[in-house]
Amino acid sequence: MNNFIYHIPTKVYFGENQITNISTEITNYGKRVLLTYGGGSIKKTGLYDKIIAQLKKANVEIFELANIAPNPRIDSVREGVKICKEHNVDVVLAVGGGSTIDASKFIAAGALVDHDPWDFFNSKQEPITKALPLLTVLTIAATGSEMDAGGVISNFETNEKLCRIEKPLLPKVSFLDPTITYSVSPYQTACGSADILSHIMEVYFNMSKGMYMLDSFMEILMKTIIKYTPIALKDPTNYEARANIMWASSWAINGFIDGGRAQEWSCHPIEHELSAFYDITHGHGLAIITPRFLEYCLDESTLPKYVDFAKNVFMVDNLTDPKEIANEGIKRLSDFFFKTCALKSQLSDLNIDDSKIAIMAKKACQNNVIHGFKPLNATAIERILTMCL
Ligand code: NZQ
Ligand code: ZN
Repeated sequence: MNNFIYHIPTKVYFGENQITNISTEITNYGKRVLLTYGGGSIKKTGLYDKIIAQLKKANVEIFELANIAPNPRIDSVREGVKICKEHNVDVVLAVGGGSTIDASKFIAAGALVDHDPWDFFNSKQEPITKALPLLTVLTIAATGSEMDAGGVISNFETNEKLCRIEKPLLPKVSFLDPTITYSVSPYQTACGSADILSHIMEVYFNMSKGMYMLDSFMEILMKTIIKYTPIALKDPTNYEARANIMWASSWAINGFIDGGRAQEWSCHPIEHELSAFYDITHGHGLAIITPRFLEYCLDESTLPKYVDFAKNVFMVDNLTDPKEIANEGIKRLSDFFFKTCALKSQLSDLNIDDSKIAIMAKKACQNNVIHGFKPLNATAIERILTMCL
């Protein structure tokens, strides 16, 4: 293993009814709270009323930003920053999935600077050295945003979906109650699981050696998702399934599995281009790209990793030829996404044709090379996207 620093200061309250601790936690951070949420699921499920009751109990002043969309827009961030500045907000409470939490991260950072928040993402790359404290209540297991320092924001005027990862964006406290995810639809549950698997696979499919402990941990995380997703799809209120998926989602991307290895992610930058141009659901894009990416990268040098994956994650034990074992692993992954999770398997199913593939490929690698599992230039990415059509 290489040298690394591991420091995740997010305090996690995990389990049923843990949101009853919001009233005490929030007062540690201030009196004026911006409550952010998405398109209305929290009102339908009754979660909104519970959160408001907690905030009233804490006797704080509440300001609200609603309607943060999936693939959150920079406009929502601007709106949130405006509220924070006008009302001198002390702390942001995000109640939602990755979209609400990501937007809230940049609202928290944007509230403390004078420039437009898009300048965090565009060529100006304004530094993020401070942010208002952020607390989160996670409502869907997928992105790990509740326990990581990253966030992704879209600008549909420029067809850009861009990411920043900076320590001040880490949530101070996150509330993870698996029962809150009972209402997540089968489609979003499947997309969430595809995203979690992808976060692990982006690290697992890597040429670094000597990472037995972390590689094994990743295999267990992947097996957890593969075991419990079908259960959550059949029985959405199965606590054991929702709890295992939820905690796996945080550990997939909170930095623990990295172990200091050199890594550049491959499927995520490609998917972010699909979302930037077509506003598709992130996890679905990853489910379509990942098996093709794996097919593309399979050669003699990468083969051993595929064999480990097939044997240790999908328990392929009836074959002897390493190439056949590798291909069986890819097949079982495809079956998981497209049969078990019932996700559509082609980009054409999402009304995406080949017209923007060349431009998306160039943007995904920034006209250069992604130095991931295998180096990918624009031509390689075009090939992978074409395999997805
Ligand atoms: O908006 P509402 O009405 O709340 O509905 C949401 C939304 O339609 C719904 N939902 C969420 N919780 C629910 C629920 N419906 C019923 N019951 C509940 N309990 O689910 C839909 C999707 O929500 P969203 O927040 O968009 O999902 P997700 O958590 O998958 O977030 C996706 C965004 O996060 C980014 C993605 O690119 C995308 O923009 N990512 C963030 C990362 C990070 N911060 O580290 C890493 C990821 O790789 C990813 O890029
Ligand atoms: Zn992701």
